[in-house]
Amino acid sequence: MIGVLFDEAKKIARNPKRLGQAFHLRRWRQLFGILRFNARTRNRWSPLANARQLQQREYSSYDQYVRHQASKFAHLDLAEYDRTYREQLRERLRGQPGIRPAAAVLCLGARQGTEVKAFLDLGCFAVGIDLNPGRDNKYVLPGDFHDVQFPAATMDIIFTNSFDHTFDPKKLIGEITRLLKPGGVLIIEAIQGEADNIAPDHYASFWWQKIDDLVALLAQHNFKPLRRHPFTQPWPGEQICFTVDSAK
Ligand SMILES: C[S@@+](CC[C@H](N)C(=O)[O-])C[C@H]1O[C@@H](n2cnc3c(N)ncnc32)[C@H](O)[C@@H]1O
Repeated sequence: MIGVLFDEAKKIARNPKRLGQAFHLRRWRQLFGILRFNARTRNRWSPLANARQLQQREYSSYDQYVRHQASKFAHLDLAEYDRTYREQLRERLRGQPGIRPAAAVLCLGARQGTEVKAFLDLGCFAVGIDLNPGRDNKYVLPGDFHDVQFPAATMDIIFTNSFDHTFDPKKLIGEITRLLKPGGVLIIEAIQGEADNIAPDHYASFWWQKIDDLVALLAQHNFKPLRRHPFTQPWPGEQICFTVDSAK
């Protein structure tokens, strides 16, 4: 309980507007949901095989993972985030490798579609998938990023800021590799990790000490970082553009 409240206090310090949400009933429902989930699962994490700096949340089943991930959306008022992150991301994406009108873009774990809108603003042909896109979402389709419904080699760009929500990082990387066209670009926005005093989100299922650990995991699967760009909003992190290193 104290840990959960402490984390919320840190998030409010980073974004004081979040305090206003403390008075909403849905926030209290979310708090009790988190406490119930943590009591049931004991909030246990274990290291990824051969990579102790990377941790996976322990779930009793894939079904429990899916239910946990899909439960977050209902508790949030994302109107302000939708407006501000759309602008921040659009400006960060401008001029990055692969960004051009009509580029085919798939956003993984895109929830209400904020990142999809940022790519559309730049003239791309963009769509998202999410376990829970909510109702009547014209930007994001239902889908699981471990088993994507689209054919191989169809995407110029894959974007995700939800890598910390994977159940099986190797399966996710396998899907990204399958979906990218030759010469395609993977763009990840990753939050800082444990070593920078950032605790995993209550819904996160995968966690790193440093963003370098995530970059090293992708390097093992032939993803070569082209550009790395730190940012502070909406959370402290880095945007990393990767290409597939075909020489390997
Ligand atoms: C932290 S939220 C980020 C949402 C969105 N990218 C944004 O910035 O607003 C993580 C999202 O990943 C989604 N997610 C988690 N696991 C997923 C999976 N296996 N396949 C697709 N989406 C998933 C969750 O439903 C949630 O919407």
